Amino acid sequence: MAKSDKKTIFSGVQPSGTIHIGNYLGAIKNWVGLQDKYDSIFCVVDYHAITVKQEPEELGRNILDVVKIYMASGINPEKSVIFRQSDISAHTELAWILNCAAARVSDLNKMTQFKDKAGQEKENVSVGLYDYPVLMAADILLYNTDLVPVGEDQKQHVELARTLARRFNSRYGEVFKIPEVEIRKEGARIMGLDEANKKMSKSASPANYIALTDTPEAAAKKITRAVTDSGKEIKYDKENKPAISNLLTIYSLLSGEEIKELEKKYQGKGYGDFKKDLSRTVGEFLTTFQKKYNSFEDDEVREILKEGAEKARPVAEETLGRVKERLGIKNS
Ligand code: TYM
Repeated sequence: MAKSDKKTIFSGVQPSGTIHIGNYLGAIKNWVGLQDKYDSIFCVVDYHAITVKQEPEELGRNILDVVKIYMASGINPEKSVIFRQSDISAHTELAWILNCAAARVSDLNKMTQFKDKAGQEKENVSVGLYDYPVLMAADILLYNTDLVPVGEDQKQHVELARTLARRFNSRYGEVFKIPEVEIRKEGARIMGLDEANKKMSKSASPANYIALTDTPEAAAKKITRAVTDSGKEIKYDKENKPAISNLLTIYSLLSGEEIKELEKKYQGKGYGDFKKDLSRTVGEFLTTFQKKYNSFEDDEVREILKEGAEKARPVAEETLGRVKERLGIKNS
């Protein structure tokens, strides 16, 4: 990557199957506008994906598909670096170093996503799932990242990256830049369609999410069946009407219409009319998105990943080199 005066953003998505409109509205969509202003690095975090069981035949496919999703969303590989985490070994090397020289068990015990994901199985999940936030910190810190644009659920992980960077710096001297988290107000936490008090999640039942690869018909069915709130009013009120507020957020972000305008538009109308129009908006979005998504060839994507890794690797290796020097494990 050529050195520039611009600040750097870094973010990533796991290639672990379904990518849904929560991932899109909470993260990927926001990256598109940022890529002109920042040196932008978007990673396909396959080492994060294997913290839970993946089918080997599917993982390779999913990695290419995430790149296609980035590009169909508007990430331009001529402007932004797109690469696969496992192509640059500095990520796992730095994660190990941070495990030893910065992260504490007490830090990881605080991670709410681990508690949610591990649930009752806490003692039986992989060590990698527990350690996942340290690998994420390594991803971010290797590239002297200024800003990490993510959805709300990743905030605590970015805060950990800041803590680990500060701790390492104070022990070994200034090496890492302290990154900031960037979370948009709208769309930062898209809720499940079948349960409006839990975030939309790929590990839930398909009724919970709209996948970016769902057909417009399948999406419309899910919207028709989506939970609603008591009362008939189409009104944004997160406290008392969480389900309709979530649908209004999705509608607004995909159509570009303000929530206030939508509230006016549906004054005196019922949930049925609202859901019908929302289904149309979602369907139009999916049709356009999938047309682009299907226009990319696997070989083209492989080439983009290869070129991306070539651009990112020198930056990562330079940072890792400085870290090793501070630790006394380089050139001895
Ligand atoms: P992942 O793959 O779970 O999710 C990718 C992005 O989607 C956002 N997101 C959501 N946003 C709004 N509403 C939702 N319901 C929703 N669900 C997911 C996530 O916040 C995320 O921004 N650990 C990360 C990947 C990662 C990473 C990194 C991110 C690895 N290294 C370094 C930034 C920087 C993850 O598992 O995201």
